[in-house]
Amino acid sequence: MPMTQDDIHAHYERDWTRRNDAARSTADLVYSGPVQDAVAFEVYRTLLADLGVRTEAGALDLLDVGSGSGRWIRFFQETLRPRQLVGTDFSAAAIELLERWHGDAANTRFRVADITAADLDLEGPFDLINVANVLFHVPEPDKFARALANLHRLLAPNGVVMITEFLPRATMRTDWMLVRSRYEFEAAIKAAGLRISAVRGIGFFGTDPMGIDGPDDGVRHQFCQVRAQTRRIIGGCADDASRRVLTELMINIERAALAYVSERVAPVDTPGQKLVALRRR
Ligand SMILES: C[S@@+](CC[C@H](N)C(=O)[O-])C[C@H]1O[C@@H](n2cnc3c(N)ncnc32)[C@H](O)[C@@H]1O
Repeated sequence: MPMTQDDIHAHYERDWTRRNDAARSTADLVYSGPVQDAVAFEVYRTLLADLGVRTEAGALDLLDVGSGSGRWIRFFQETLRPRQLVGTDFSAAAIELLERWHGDAANTRFRVADITAADLDLEGPFDLINVANVLFHVPEPDKFARALANLHRLLAPNGVVMITEFLPRATMRTDWMLVRSRYEFEAAIKAAGLRISAVRGIGFFGTDPMGIDGPDDGVRHQFCQVRAQTRRIIGGCADDASRRVLTELMINIERAALAYVSERVAPVDTPGQKLVALRRR
């Protein structure tokens, strides 16, 4: 039975509580791999520069929606060093985890907040709003529309919303994701008073291949196999030097494949995740 936002909420309350209880260091909270992070973070920085977003330390008021275990919080704290960073999640367990593991920085605070709430009360506006791996967890059309309306309301006039999406040609429903087609996604964005300003691939083999629509046991399955084998091989390396070499190799394969798609095909047709930059219309 496909999950609703309420089911997903309950799932994350359990999951973040379990992970927080089991964690001995921030390394135990990481669920992306080093290849995935290196590629995605590089594309993120490049896109911000291409969009002319000021990223010198102290320049940005930044909102992160659905912060989870803090993958993007860490990236923002280390590389963008915003004036203020507000991390939010609708799971109270996530906020507890974030405060425990990422709560030391003076510029960072965390809030329990549901981005789909009609009465969402977050001080804004924000120059940069990051929404990574959240919106496909909002299957209900009315909640999705409210989430986009909230993003529009919280965004500074010249601000940018950065969303990670898959943008396949056809909408796909899995148990816990509604992966909207590029057409459905764009129509909803427009209705909320926003526009797509840029699309960049942030993973080729390294992220879920949900950018490829079609049956589970088709091309998507082959991409999943490559991803799983890569993780197994890198994870099974006997020493740090071999792990570094293999990681570097996979990063280079990802970079080359993304560059090829971007130049000769179209970033929107990248098999993996995309970074979608939105601005006010
Ligand atoms: C897949 S995790 C992504 C975490 C993090 N952004 C990342 O990319 O690593 C999705 C997160 O979004 C949160 N979430 C889902 N729906 C939400 C909503 N309506 N408002 C705020 N957070 C939500 C979940 O609790 C979960 O922590």
